[in-house]
Amino acid sequence: MIATFKERYGPWALVTGASSGIGAEFAVQLAEAGLNLILAARRKPRLDRLAQQLEEKNKIQVRAVRADLSRPGFLAEILAASRSVEVGLLVNNAGFGLAGNFLDHDMEKEAALLDVNCRAPLILTHEFGRKMAQRKRGGIIFVSSVSAYLATPFEATYAASKAYELFLAESLRYELKREGVDVLALCPGVTSTEFHEVAGMKAVAAMPVGPVVAAGLKKLGKKSSVVTGWHNRALVAFLKFAPRWTATVQAGRVMEGLVFKRGDGRPME
Ligand SMILES: NC(=O)c1ccc[n+]([C@@H]2O[C@H](COP(=O)([O-])OP(=O)(O)OC[C@H]3O[C@@H](n4cnc5c(N)ncnc54)[C@H](OP(=O)(O)O)[C@@H]3O)[C@@H](O)[C@H]2O)c1
Repeated sequence: MIATFKERYGPWALVTGASSGIGAEFAVQLAEAGLNLILAARRKPRLDRLAQQLEEKNKIQVRAVRADLSRPGFLAEILAASRSVEVGLLVNNAGFGLAGNFLDHDMEKEAALLDVNCRAPLILTHEFGRKMAQRKRGGIIFVSSVSAYLATPFEATYAASKAYELFLAESLRYELKREGVDVLALCPGVTSTEFHEVAGMKAVAAMPVGPVVAAGLKKLGKKSSVVTGWHNRALVAFLKFAPRWTATVQAGRVMEGLVFKRGDGRPME
């Protein structure tokens, strides 16, 4: 008999960065699948509002936890919120980008990007992955990016952080399969969220969040990674054959148009 999504990855899911965009949509779709939720982010009032809506609509339990994943103590906050429940699905979604000249960026922000996009998923995956392996059941999704496939000038640290997540997910998919734990890297292209505003760049040809999240949930347990949108899949296929430096130069030219006001060389407000 084929287990339902809830039987395989329930009864609880932990979603980081659930206060907006892709993370909030993961919460909505997982609630529709009947999973109870732990939602983590810094903007607690937003999490509380979403939690109330999902509880009322889907008759599930939702716990909202304020956690800043760039801070060393974040794990204790998440463990306190997940006490006495079984987390069968971890969605490492929280993340942000920094667009502009690398040397102009504040070093604290660059380091926080690494903490949120790389260190936090590493720590959460180790913590919850061990518990899943003991139960021989579970799933872990890393929300990486199509940027993981392409070194990207003017978004250098971000692209590198997403490559880290993609490689970690692909390696762990092999390692954890024998433990009964499925691992997937979800690699969206430009998606309609608050991401670009936060990063300080324009968004073009953005996909809606619904199909992006649906693709991730559908491919978990079937593939090690999924790129959303045919144009992004075409780009990744092209990159397998393109000389790496040529691709990086093209990426740099595109990013200059998206990040800088024409001619003044300064990042967009
Ligand atoms: N949108 C795109 O085009 C796109 C494309 C490819 C990949 N992605 C990836 O998708 C993921 C979700 O981004 P999004 O597009 O949905 O952007 P978003 O709307 O800006 O959402 C980002 C989420 O991350 C959380 N977050 C940021 N810093 C945090 C911190 N220090 N501690 C805890 N949570 C933090 C934010 O919550 P708080 O601010 O409340 O803390 C928010 O919930 C990211 O990993 C991003 O890299 C996005």
